[in-house]
Amino acid sequence: MPWSRPAVAMDLNDSSALARLCSDGSRLRLLALLAVEELTVAELTAATRLAQSRVSSHLARLREAGWLRVRRHGTQTYHALDEERMSAPARELWRVLRESTGDALLDEDSERLASIIAGRAGGADAPWAESVAGTMERHYSPGRTWEAAARALVGLAQLGHVLDVASGDGALAELVAPRAASVTCVDLSVRVVQAGQQRPAAAAGLRFVVGDMHALPFPGARFDQLMLLNSLSYAEEPTRVVAECARVLKPGGALVAVTLAPHRHEALTRGYGHRQAGFPPDELAVLFGSHGFHVGSCGVTSRERRAPHLAVVTLTARRSPTPAPGGAPTRP
Ligand SMILES: C[S@@+](CC[C@H](N)C(=O)[O-])C[C@H]1O[C@@H](n2cnc3c(N)ncnc32)[C@H](O)[C@@H]1O
Repeated sequence: MPWSRPAVAMDLNDSSALARLCSDGSRLRLLALLAVEELTVAELTAATRLAQSRVSSHLARLREAGWLRVRRHGTQTYHALDEERMSAPARELWRVLRESTGDALLDEDSERLASIIAGRAGGADAPWAESVAGTMERHYSPGRTWEAAARALVGLAQLGHVLDVASGDGALAELVAPRAASVTCVDLSVRVVQAGQQRPAAAAGLRFVVGDMHALPFPGARFDQLMLLNSLSYAEEPTRVVAECARVLKPGGALVAVTLAPHRHEALTRGYGHRQAGFPPDELAVLFGSHGFHVGSCGVTSRERRAPHLAVVTLTARRSPTPAPGGAPTRP
């Protein structure tokens, strides 16, 4: 059978260079440590008990291949695995190796790493925190995930009657449901809505409705808060969707929208059903502003960690107590 050519191909030189880079056990040990924490040569040497010169030469090769991020702090140079910058095949190969390799040496390395981290800054109170102060969001700490943070922070919210527009199966609505008087999910897909109705939270006040975000099946001024998360890219006519959001929100009601910034990866996003290739934050703010919203903030808030590193825009807005001139929310 002929060799089938993938859509994005490395040539044979690239492939064999990548395989060679991963063909050394010591280098894999260093990578396993660098994936967890940014480390100096001395720390890597202490964790692996390899000769310092070997550690340095492995690091030089990994740096040359574009696998490492280097940060200088005072007299120290810290190295970390830079998965964002690695090529897609490199990241994939590393993922397979990491997930399928188990070895007593790796366990010993990581035990020694834990005591090295604990001993950083020479203090017993907060050595880890001090060593990453200023860039904490980029570092691993046991149990400190973005999901755990989101679930915890929702606990501070006090919500009224919430509408989740293009809700999907309610994965995010379920998160806020315990903090809301009610949560209504509306989605175009009957199948998605049926899946949402199977969620345990559905029995506890999460309501699902089939409907089109261009013509929401609700009376005006019905909701206190509105979620428009990862939805606008699916709109045929974003302007109509924004007008509908304004119509169903009570005066003074709050809205949060998350969507992609403009990108050139339509071949990718079309596969997920997107109809819009992202929104420039300034135009998005004007669009909401012209439909009776007071926009609190609108801008790029994060970037995907994996290629193609799509940028994500977050908009927060409040429906004006009175409709804006020329932007009266009306049913289309
Ligand atoms: C990426 S999912 C987002 C789900 C959810 N908001 C979230 O962030 O987890 C997009 C959802 O939009 C729904 N959708 C697409 N076009 C729609 C429309 N015109 N009206 C309502 N929902 C729509 C799809 O069925 C899908 O469930």
